[in-house]
Order: sequence, then structure tokens, then C-alpha cells
Amino acid sequence: MTSVRIAASILSADFARLGKEIEAIEKAGADFIHVDVMDGHFVPNITIGPVVVRAIRPHAKKPLDVHLMIAPVDPFIQAFCEAGADGISVHPEAGPHVHRTLQYIRDCGRRPGIVLNPGTPIDFIDNVLDLVDLVLIMTVNPGFGGQEFIASQLRKIEAAAERIARSGRKIDLEVDGGITPETARRAVDAGANILVAGTSVFKGGAANYAANIARLRG
Ligand code: DX5
Ligand code: ZN
Repeated sequence: MTSVRIAASILSADFARLGKEIEAIEKAGADFIHVDVMDGHFVPNITIGPVVVRAIRPHAKKPLDVHLMIAPVDPFIQAFCEAGADGISVHPEAGPHVHRTLQYIRDCGRRPGIVLNPGTPIDFIDNVLDLVDLVLIMTVNPGFGGQEFIASQLRKIEAAAERIARSGRKIDLEVDGGITPETARRAVDAGANILVAGTSVFKGGAANYAANIARLRG
């Protein structure tokens, strides 16, 4: 599992010290900084917006992997691009025209990603695979960190991996939610190459971050 990359979800970081937390988790080996944006409408929780992305940008050397859980999403894409997002991932339920949304992210010069909730069928990626650099499979219902991995999504990860291989394009396959050393192995075996993890990487404070990340790499 050495080639798997870790996207550290700052949802589980100390928000009063976000800049320092990002520096510490990167030093510990994180490959991406995963930013969970929630609006209290598309998901039942509120987190952060573009001003925070802009504030943390100078503290991150690694790409900011911004996961938008907001609806409607289109009016905010430009603000996240300007704030310094590197990748922007959207749910197809977050607007009426996900194809256009993904094109818009590309036009802004960012890496577009499509996210599937546990209840969203895999077919939703079929007509947009030519537009995306990332497919993100949720293994929890979005809204909160610390939830349990939904094992029924392993089949969907496999199905996404098959479709990506068939497309012939270089597309990352990311998995988000309930990642522990045990579920990390299962997700990677199913075809994932990027794992989002919050609880399991930030637990125990900065002295433990490197060991936490190493355990997820297997
Ligand atoms: C959930 C978020 C996840 C979450 C993962 O809505 O998209 O990124 O922070 O947290 P853990 O690793 O605690 O399941
Ligand atoms: Zn996320």
C-alpha cells in the first residue's frame, strides 16, 4: 500500500490553530490537505468558507483538496478558486447541471472532482468521466467526522476503478469517511489511491501524526 496518498481532513484539526496544524500534518507526511466545506443545508453541519481557505493557503505546501458540501454550489466555485483551492469536488445533487459545474471548475484552472454519496449510484460518473481528475466515493454520509465506514461502498469503489481504467484517462480514486488502518487496506484493495482521513490522522496530538499516517499507508 506504499503508493497510497493521504488527504488529511482538517475537520478533525484544532480550528484555533489551523495554520500550525496544517504545517504539522504536512511534516508528518500528508500528501493533500482536505478541506470540508459544509453549509447546514446540503449537509446537517456548518464548517468553513472561502475566507478560511484563503487564510490557510500560505500555510500549506501540499495541494488543497476542497470538498464542497453546499447547495447550490455554482455561485461559490469562483470564490473557492480565487481563495486558492487546487482541486474542487462537487456532489451531483448540489446543482442542476453537474456537467457544467465541472467544466466551470476546469475553466477556473482547478482540478475537478465528482463525489458520490453512499446512496448515489455509480452511474452518475459515466457522463462526466471525461471532465474530471478525481472521483471521490463517500464511505459515510457527509456532514461529520468520526463516523463508521459503510462497507457496502467497497463494491462502488471497485466499480469506479473499473470505469476509470476503461476510460483510459488518469483519474484519481479517492475514498472519504471512516478510514482507519483496517478500512484503509480494504479501500485500497478495492482500487482507491487517495484516502481522506480526519479522526485517524489527527488523534493524539501532533506527536502522533506521523505514526498515524504511516499506519494508514500499511
Ligand atoms: C465527512 C467529510 C470527511 C470527514 C472524514 O462529511 O467529508 O472528510 O472529515 O472524517 P473521518 O476520517 O473522521 O471519518
Ligand atoms: Zn470530505
